[in-house]
Amino acid sequence: MTATIIDGKSVAANVRRNCRARVDDLWRRFGASPGLAVIMVGDNPASTVYVRKKIQACADVGIKSHKFLFSATESQDVVIAKIQELSADPDIHGILVQLPLPKHFDLKAVLGAIDREKDVDGFHLYNVGGLVVGETVFPPCTPYGVMLLLDNAGVEIAGRNAVVVGASNIVGKPMALMLMQREATVSVCHVKTRDLAQFTILADILIVAAGCPNLITGPMVKSGAVVIDVGINRLANGQLVGDCDFDAVRKRASMITPVPGGVGPMTVTMLLVNTINSAARSLNLAHEDFVFEEL
Ligand code: GUN
Repeated sequence: MTATIIDGKSVAANVRRNCRARVDDLWRRFGASPGLAVIMVGDNPASTVYVRKKIQACADVGIKSHKFLFSATESQDVVIAKIQELSADPDIHGILVQLPLPKHFDLKAVLGAIDREKDVDGFHLYNVGGLVVGETVFPPCTPYGVMLLLDNAGVEIAGRNAVVVGASNIVGKPMALMLMQREATVSVCHVKTRDLAQFTILADILIVAAGCPNLITGPMVKSGAVVIDVGINRLANGQLVGDCDFDAVRKRASMITPVPGGVGPMTVTMLLVNTINSAARSLNLAHEDFVFEEL
């Protein structure tokens, strides 16, 4: 068997076209422009790249973005005061604090200062809690993007064995909750899991978000599984790879996401979706008008 490639770039491009149309529609019908505030503290090189991509993606679909850069030595109070100001600003519909923050910051205090109605990353405890009961306002972008890729590829979820490798707050845990909400039987593996293969081999849907190149080898994958590789790792030779031994896993899986070009393009795209939906919510538009089910 050779797996079909799930082309995240192409799905993301379709969603972004849809975003553009919805931004135009909000402007035409209501004179409203979605606004996203991006806060970055310090100059982490990876964060600088991600923030640039987010700002560019906003520009591409017509979302107004506002960037606020603070030095790594800035006090937490100053950053929180800015978040409070943005939370009260009616032209801002999404507030994103790029992570990681410098060590002297209390992550909970910073994320807790974001108005939960503008928490487009879905990191505020209110939205995290909402995930548990299947009612979060803002699904976190990476697992939200994975769900869209699965749906777009026509993958059945209910009743299937889904195994999530990696239990981070940003990807693994919300991913598991979203799959549970769709009635998959979910196992979550992490760095302390013994004999990872005994779990992965049972997966009809295998989602890997561990940040470890070649963690998943061919024999660890059930024949015909759908494999979603969320890992992004830079090798010493400069090559960008995921967490799977791609060539070997591709021979066993029925579908697989490549790295790059799989999940990556979806993460920023779903941030755009959350921001546009937030703007629509602020106008009290029916949510059904603005969800992206038709994609
Ligand atoms: N750092 C790594 N991933 C993310 C993300 O999805 N959102 C934010 N705000 N920071 C991150």
